[in-house]
Amino acid sequence: MAIDLKNKTILITGASDGIGKNTAFKLATMGANLILVGRNEEKTRKVLEQVKSLSISTSTHMVFLSDLSLSSQVKKLAEEIKKNTKKIDVLFNNAGAFFQEKSITSEGLESTFALNHLNYFLLTHHLLDLLLKAESPRIVNTASQAHVGVDIDFDNLQGEKNYNGWKAYQMSKLENILFSYELAERLKNSNITVNSFHPGFVDTNFGENNGGFFGNILKVAKKLIAINEDKGSETSTYLCSSPEVEGVSGKYFDKCKVKTSSAQSRNVETRKKLWMVTEEILKKYLS
Ligand SMILES: NC(=O)c1ccc[n+]([C@@H]2O[C@H](COP(=O)([O-])OP(=O)(O)OC[C@H]3O[C@@H](n4cnc5c(N)ncnc54)[C@H](OP(=O)(O)O)[C@@H]3O)[C@@H](O)[C@H]2O)c1
Repeated sequence: MAIDLKNKTILITGASDGIGKNTAFKLATMGANLILVGRNEEKTRKVLEQVKSLSISTSTHMVFLSDLSLSSQVKKLAEEIKKNTKKIDVLFNNAGAFFQEKSITSEGLESTFALNHLNYFLLTHHLLDLLLKAESPRIVNTASQAHVGVDIDFDNLQGEKNYNGWKAYQMSKLENILFSYELAERLKNSNITVNSFHPGFVDTNFGENNGGFFGNILKVAKKLIAINEDKGSETSTYLCSSPEVEGVSGKYFDKCKVKTSSAQSRNVETRKKLWMVTEEILKKYLS
């Protein structure tokens, strides 16, 4: 039976491209009301038009713009969303990027860590009240199988000692999983479920912001072995919409199935420490 998402409000970050955009298309056909978060107005509005053409007549969609690598903007975005909607049924944290060269945001934080990890943590923190107003709310976090093979180096969390772009990306995706497990544990007495997933190696715009050797290798690899965006948005759509995962929380998925994530991602001490360190870094944005 087709899934009916009429009256469900689903917020998607990174909605202007790739996995976020294609998940939006699929959820629109199921009748969801979408909150599309992008940073590029033209691109995000174009997605809105495509979403509208796939939607049922009663759906209403909204667009919000924010640079999610900046905590001040994440907080402001949450405030704007709160003014414009009464509840959120699904929060899909998805915006992310890979930075080959170290870059520091105008707030003084390393970009991979700020965008890929802090943004998920802070947006979720500020939208919990709206999620609690929904009947069976879900939080879905895009992680990656790239998390395998690294651990959190708390002494080099933001490349303070040395920076390797791929390691920083791997660590940020590990952070997504650690955050999801810890949040699921903290919310176990609520009706909110929290899961993370690997979308597959998907031929999106991912990594295109990097030129040079790595950028070219990635381009070629995507064309040769990656799955397309339609296929690459199957697990995200499943987690945002399927009745099969109703009540399922604290899991990591791949190809719409529960998968065991790395031993490092399942270390309870690491995830509690990461939570504490994150709260300390974000303290002025949490209230
Ligand atoms: N592609 C893969 O093989 C793969 C595999 C595993 C995990 N992932 C994860 O999947 C997620 C989505 O990536 P994708 O593959 O769909 O890549 P993508 O096509 O590059 O899409 C990334 C999305 O994030 C947005 N974004 C980037 N920086 C932002 C910022 N500072 N503020 C706000 N939005 C920002 C982009 O906006 P613009 O349109 O303005 O650039 C775009 O909408 C990421 O978390 C990535 O780590 C991807």
